[in-house]
Amino acid sequence: MFGFKKELEENYEYVVAKEKPFSYTTECIQKVIANMEMTNVDQKNKIIQFTSSLSGEGKTTIISNIAYLMSRKNKKVIVVDLDLRKPKMQRVFDVPNRHGLTDYLKGNITQDEMIRHSLSHGVDYILTGEQTNAIINVLESQKLKDLISTLRLAYDYILIDSPPVIAVSDPLYISRLVDGILFCVADKRASKPLVKEAVQTVQRANSNILGMLMTRSIVMEKGYRYRYEYVYNYGKIST
Ligand SMILES: Nc1ncnc2c1ncn2[C@@H]1O[C@H](COP(=O)(O)OP(=O)(O)OP(=O)(O)O)[C@@H](O)[C@H]1O
Ligand SMILES: [Mg+2]
Repeated sequence: MFGFKKELEENYEYVVAKEKPFSYTTECIQKVIANMEMTNVDQKNKIIQFTSSLSGEGKTTIISNIAYLMSRKNKKVIVVDLDLRKPKMQRVFDVPNRHGLTDYLKGNITQDEMIRHSLSHGVDYILTGEQTNAIINVLESQKLKDLISTLRLAYDYILIDSPPVIAVSDPLYISRLVDGILFCVADKRASKPLVKEAVQTVQRANSNILGMLMTRSIVMEKGYRYRYEYVYNYGKIST
């Protein structure tokens, strides 16, 4: 089973919903979107942060898939990469990490130059731009808050990629900019106590966790093949 899992990972495409529109994974992500829409009927949960306990729990993957599928439903979506330590959104869109947020905040480019559009995915996105050590200054800057307010008016959904909770405090600063958080938990990665600690850390910061996303779980289907799925658990988080 382990070998099979490894094989799947190596062949994995970030936007599986685009590559395999009729797959079970795509179906699961559609359910995630349906739940997100239900929590956003009055437009109060449109700026959503994705985080997790540890790195590699599938945040960037799920965001890019959700963004792609939402855009197929004619939603206006923008993905904002606020993982300033390990930015990966440029890989999803297959572009260099240039003309991003930090370049905009420094005044080197305009807002229009920073907001890019992927024709193949149908979504707008903002990359992190040139690497900086002043990460907390960036996340606390008034210019970033103003940018998010502008995006709120222009988009149906603003999906924000962020680092994991256990390693750094960045996600807590990011949580002040958003309406709600979707917390990714990869199957058999972080231990239960660790997930509990991470969720409590977020809750202590008075952040609004909208739901948990179980990612990268291998389920058995007809014919005894294994596959990954996403499970969305909306509601009260018990820790
Ligand atoms: N549903 C899935 N099925 C198979 N592989 C997956 C799935 N989700 C993520 N992966 C793989 O897991 C790895 C980590 O995923 P991803 O980069 O999305 O995680 P992350 O939480 O954004 O990581 P980081 O914290 O390092 O930014 C990637 O190699 C990706 O291809
Ligand atoms: Mg990531």
